[in-house]
Amino acid sequence: MQIEIIGQASGKVTKILLQENDLKITLLAFLRSHNVTIASSCDGDGVCKKCVIQNDWLTCKLTLESFFQCQPDGKIYVGYL
Ligand code: FES
Repeated sequence: MQIEIIGQASGKVTKILLQENDLKITLLAFLRSHNVTIASSCDGDGVCKKCVIQNDWLTCKLTLESFFQCQPDGKIYVGYL
């Protein structure tokens, strides 16, 4: 299983393999642990709305498991990357 991060500003694509135990953590924590820059000024409190992907999903409030239920192809679109 993998995710594919598509930077819409740069066109850059990054692929990251994930493990079964990654499914319970938030997408924000997972991306940060793999050195993917995700904007945030509230550090995951769900207030700043800067950690958005797919135009309106907050990575700090979405586990990888929930993400794959909504986006089975594992593609993450980040407007500012
Ligand atoms: S990090 Fe601020 S809303 Fe997600």
